[in-house]
Amino acid sequence: MAAASRPLAARLTRLDLMEGSSVPAPASDRKNAGHGSGTWATVTKDVPMRSETSRCYDIVIKPMASAASSLHSTLKLLSDPLRLRLCALLARGELAVQELVAITGLQQSRISNHLSLLKRSGLVRDRREGTWSFHSLVEPSDDGPLSSTLYAAAVQPSVESPEGVRDQLALQAVLDQRRQKSRDMHDRLAERWSAVGQEFALGTLRAEVLAHAWPHGPTVADLGCGTGFLASWLAQRGAHVIAVDHSERMLGQAKRSSHSAPIVFRQGELDALPLANGEVDAAFSNLVWHHLPDYEAAANEVRRVLRPGGAVVISDLLPHEAEWMREQMGDLRLGLRPDQVVGALARAGFSELHSEPIMDRYRVASPTGGTAEFPMFVVRGRKPATDR
Ligand SMILES: C[S@@+](CC[C@H](N)C(=O)[O-])C[C@H]1O[C@@H](n2cnc3c(N)ncnc32)[C@H](O)[C@@H]1O
Repeated sequence: MAAASRPLAARLTRLDLMEGSSVPAPASDRKNAGHGSGTWATVTKDVPMRSETSRCYDIVIKPMASAASSLHSTLKLLSDPLRLRLCALLARGELAVQELVAITGLQQSRISNHLSLLKRSGLVRDRREGTWSFHSLVEPSDDGPLSSTLYAAAVQPSVESPEGVRDQLALQAVLDQRRQKSRDMHDRLAERWSAVGQEFALGTLRAEVLAHAWPHGPTVADLGCGTGFLASWLAQRGAHVIAVDHSERMLGQAKRSSHSAPIVFRQGELDALPLANGEVDAAFSNLVWHHLPDYEAAANEVRRVLRPGGAVVISDLLPHEAEWMREQMGDLRLGLRPDQVVGALARAGFSELHSEPIMDRYRVASPTGGTAEFPMFVVRGRKPATDR
């Protein structure tokens, strides 16, 4: 039978049909249906046949109408200057409502209302962590709620507008405050760190982390070295270690406990490392990334300071619910998901990325008495050899 003379349903057997569609499909095609996004459904033989016009409406017009209506509601949402302003800020990274209040000077209830609308439309997502909630703009993508074209036409100009530039400066001040808070906390912890922060259930962490960092060349950076227990261990085995930390007191303790191992100490931030381009063969950070306001920036910096082909090793706590770790240990995040670290490193251009749990567990005295143990993970990757 010529294609045009076959019944419409037979001509459509390879198409996934919109939910509620009434076109029957042959049994052999049921297994092919349902491969699209969640709004597309399996077509069954039991649904009554309707006229060709209404079927064309279902197949051609309805999806177009629904895309147009979702574009219309996104445009409507973004036509509000405050919502656009929030999107521009959240494009920069995850922020808590309190931080948005500090940046914009607006009332919390107003910001929360706009955030709920943005979340409902899928433009903003939130991540709960203990009693905090972090918000961020979704990645622009052509099959998501915020297309790259819409981002470039609406959000980007808002970032670059005079008000956007003022907001970005205020945001920078908030990020600087977070950093300062972390530095002060670590200065306060420095004298006790060797006692409170370096206890592990099995004691295998050193071997597990360093086995991945050490074999790539003589120069290794310990980024966020604390009192330097990993740096000293490596230096005593012949590595040339550059140990970086933003806390002056942690560095002071690290120097004292290095027992004249040949370690170079440098004070600096992980998102602006005091290291030259390509200066090291490998870099690792243990229990540091959960303190970072902007780990995307840290990932870019590690790539800059590694030589082509160099290795990165990041170990940290898996997500947990111990809210008291913020107060007691100055933690910004309650652990991290390995895929957050892998994602940031991948976006910074790293390859050969792997993550795995560490057998060891981090132990710390809990405020309710006893000892809390936290499971950990390690992520490792390489800067491509061709990346200069
Ligand atoms: C939890 S301690 C871990 C210390 C060490 N890596 C260890 O395994 O014992 C976190 C360390 O990271 C440092 N740190 C946190 N945020 C930092 C940043 N943005 N730049 C540089 N150092 C940072 C702190 O000062 C602190 O010494």
